[in-house]
Amino acid sequence: MILPIFLAATALFPSTYASASVGQSACLALQDSLHLENTTILNVTYIPAATTVSTPASCQSTAQVSTALLCRVYFVINTTSTSAVHAEAWLPDTWFGRFLGLGNGGLGGCIDYANLDYGTSLHFAAVASDNGHDGNDGHQFLNNPEIINDFAFRALHVEVVIGKQIVQRYYGAAAAKSYYLGCSTGGRQGTQAALKFPDDFDGIVAGSPATDFNHLTIAQAGNIIFFGRCKLTASLSSGALWAIVSEEVLRQCDALDGLVDGIITEPDECDFRAEAVQCTQGNTTNCITPTQVETVKNVFSPIFGLHGELVYPRYSPGAEGDPGSQGSGGVLGGPFFSIAQDWGQFAILNVTSHDFSKFSLKAVDFWDSINPGGIATFDGDLSAFRNRGGKFLTYHGRRDPIISSTNSKRVYDLISHTLSIPLLDDFYRLFLIPGMGHCSGGLGPTSFGQSDGLNLVNDSAHNILLAMVDWVEGGIAPATIIGSDANATRTHCRYPMRSVFNGTVFVCE
Ligand SMILES: *[C@@H]1O[C@H](CO)[C@@H](O)[C@H](O)[C@H]1NC(C)=O
Ligand SMILES: *[C@@H]1O[C@H](CO)[C@@H](O)[C@H](O)[C@H]1NC(C)=O
Ligand SMILES: *[C@@H]1O[C@H](CO)[C@@H](O)[C@H](O)[C@H]1NC(C)=O
Ligand SMILES: *[C@@H]1O[C@H](CO)[C@@H](O)[C@H](O)[C@H]1NC(C)=O
Ligand SMILES: *[C@@H]1O[C@H](CO)[C@@H](O)[C@H](O)[C@H]1NC(C)=O
Ligand SMILES: *[C@@H]1O[C@H](CO)[C@@H](O)[C@H](O)[C@H]1NC(C)=O
Ligand SMILES: *[C@@H]1O[C@H](CO)[C@@H](O)[C@H](O)[C@H]1NC(C)=O
Ligand SMILES: *[C@@H]1O[C@H](CO)[C@@H](O)[C@H](O)[C@H]1NC(C)=O
Repeated sequence: MILPIFLAATALFPSTYASASVGQSACLALQDSLHLENTTILNVTYIPAATTVSTPASCQSTAQVSTALLCRVYFVINTTSTSAVHAEAWLPDTWFGRFLGLGNGGLGGCIDYANLDYGTSLHFAAVASDNGHDGNDGHQFLNNPEIINDFAFRALHVEVVIGKQIVQRYYGAAAAKSYYLGCSTGGRQGTQAALKFPDDFDGIVAGSPATDFNHLTIAQAGNIIFFGRCKLTASLSSGALWAIVSEEVLRQCDALDGLVDGIITEPDECDFRAEAVQCTQGNTTNCITPTQVETVKNVFSPIFGLHGELVYPRYSPGAEGDPGSQGSGGVLGGPFFSIAQDWGQFAILNVTSHDFSKFSLKAVDFWDSINPGGIATFDGDLSAFRNRGGKFLTYHGRRDPIISSTNSKRVYDLISHTLSIPLLDDFYRLFLIPGMGHCSGGLGPTSFGQSDGLNLVNDSAHNILLAMVDWVEGGIAPATIIGSDANATRTHCRYPMRSVFNGTVFVCE
């Protein structure tokens, strides 16, 4: 069934498609009839009812939900003689004529099954890949520059090129419009696509992007242990000490936005004085040492390189309160951050293990000089994407403990300088989300359809993917995006507008 498009808040009517027969037999026939460049069809199955499906790759849990009735095509694309991208196309019986490419996270390596389900539940034909290697770490980068190239720019592109052909074969019509959804590494992939392959997508939703990737990983690595930024390392890696800092951060900065609710709306305005919790003679409880004070001040300061250049913006005060900042996956938790460790040893240094205890700011020039696969993704020239009518939506949590949201302002300003346009509203909008952690969650109403499970209200005012559809197909750009949680909503503002409390609610000014 190929239907004209109806969405909750807006009714959009794309061109009507020739009726093709979809369903079990048409689906299974793809196994033998698809002959696509560099591609092997590994498995085709038809999913006749909502169910959980098994997944082939090692980094997936076995149970993944499929809500929609759909044709599932598992395939592999050889990108070179030493690299390949495994991918799945999920083709719903009820299709609204839209293609949806999906990204990855961290150093993954994992097909995004949750968003294959989410996209197909909204009647997109959705495609996701393993980003060129199986597993959620970087060991396969070692001495394989082509696997790095897949990760840095190519996997998503071939996913789109081959995925669109599969869609066309199955439905007997090409997708009318092409969309992208991803966060974190997925946000970087979406940005890279707009820069390198501007025709791949009409609309890109790229959240919490890991742009300026080499510098980001250096910042993540350096925050707690190295650069002389922290002299008493292990002691401050304890969550209990950060909790003391966190309480004081809120005491100093929560009220800056006019509402004491645990959310610092504009952390860039929080000029935190860590000295306020420094231990004094006779009082060594609920306080931190002078050395730890120095560390906290460093974490909340930008990183500058050996030539005085900005390497990466500071972490936002408030982000230390997000649970994601601690533990082995957190940049404030103590151990050398695993993504930085894997990127450094497997992609930059090409060794199986490396002792990073001497890590220093010298890494900045060295990592820049290698920039494996052109991973940096820090280029303001989106002119080709803009000129062909592409639309870009990005968002970033102000309490993100993994990637500072200040970097997304920096990227906006870079594009603005590069293209010489003061406001990017006509094709690029950045929504800053107070209280949100990395990609989702955190404090307050931070669900706006950015991923599976976060679509609490099904319309383009509350769902950033549907907002993108409205923009691309209806010419209606989202002025704001409304976040929800179980109890409340909040209007989130696009940069450079500010979120201002008017005594009752937050409004954008
Ligand atoms: C892809 O590469 C594998 C391994 O080198 C090879 O066996 C296979 O035939 C290739 N497939 C295509 C479609 O080129
Ligand atoms: C193809 O998928 C079916 C259903 O999930 C499964 O039983 C079968 O093992 C798969 N075959 C291959 C070759 O992966
Ligand atoms: C197929 O692989 C060759 C090199 O192995 C490459 O030049 C070509 O672009 C690939 N085609 C697609 C669609 O990826
Ligand atoms: C949104 O709409 C889709 C398609 O009609 C439906 O499958 C899904 O359950 C809806 N989600 C919510 C949260 O209402
Ligand atoms: C590591 O290998 C990559 C190619 O994969 C190369 O560009 C880089 O220069 C190598 N690094 C070192 C330190 O030799
Ligand atoms: C000790 O110092 C901490 C941090 O400044 C403060 O919160 C606490 O009230 C002080 N305790 C006493 C007994 O003064
Ligand atoms: C909603 O409110 C209830 C009752 O006050 C509270 O227990 C719950 O944690 C709140 N949920 C969210 C997501 O804030
Ligand atoms: C605050 O904004 C809301 C929504 O725009 C509006 O209804 C309300 O009147 C405003 N309150 C004040 C005090 O301006």
